[in-house]
Amino acid sequence: MQTLRISTDKAELDVPLIHGFLAEQSTWAKGIPLATVERAIEHSLCFGGYLGSSQVAFARVISDYATFGNLVDVFVLPAYRGKGFSKVITQAVLDHPQLQGLRRFTLATGDAHGLYAQFGFTPPLRPQSLMERYFPNIYQSAP
Ligand SMILES: CC(C)(COP(=O)(O)OP(=O)(O)OC[C@H]1O[C@@H](n2cnc3c(N)ncnc32)[C@H](O)[C@@H]1OP(=O)(O)O)[C@@H](O)C(=O)NCCC(=O)NCCS
Repeated sequence: MQTLRISTDKAELDVPLIHGFLAEQSTWAKGIPLATVERAIEHSLCFGGYLGSSQVAFARVISDYATFGNLVDVFVLPAYRGKGFSKVITQAVLDHPQLQGLRRFTLATGDAHGLYAQFGFTPPLRPQSLMERYFPNIYQSAP
């Protein structure tokens, strides 16, 4: 069985691969510009999942490293799914020393609730308290 190696070293990230997946294959960031992905990576804690030196998985955390974290852009390349790799990368996120003791860790998912439930994520306790400014099609609008 192949072991997924996790690294938070941004220098190792395959940015064209990450951008390619998000812009073309994701359901949530279709059309996202490369410059936006680069800026997001720069200001986030990023987790790359590698087989040898090839990146096959990704996750990104937006956090103040004290009180709050938001897990986004989680993916495993299609050819490598069903091997537990998303669980390895999610566990690495939750084990990261800079992400301990947070009061709230959020994420949004279309259909992977069963994955994150295995790590203690639940539907919001008080959904009525949450508000957002949300522009889901922002990357499809003409510039
Ligand atoms: C979701 C995704 C990251 C799962 O990656 P994966 O490495 O194939 O998943 P794993 O092999 O680690 O298994 C995931 C576990 O969560 C469960 N699960 C629940 N919902 C799931 C879903 N929508 N997709 C995959 N697994 C799901 C699986 O049954 C499995 O549990 P088990 O091992 O107890 O049977 C991958 O399918 C993917 O990249 N999808 C496209 C992007 C996406 O939807 N990302 C999530 C955004 S929040």
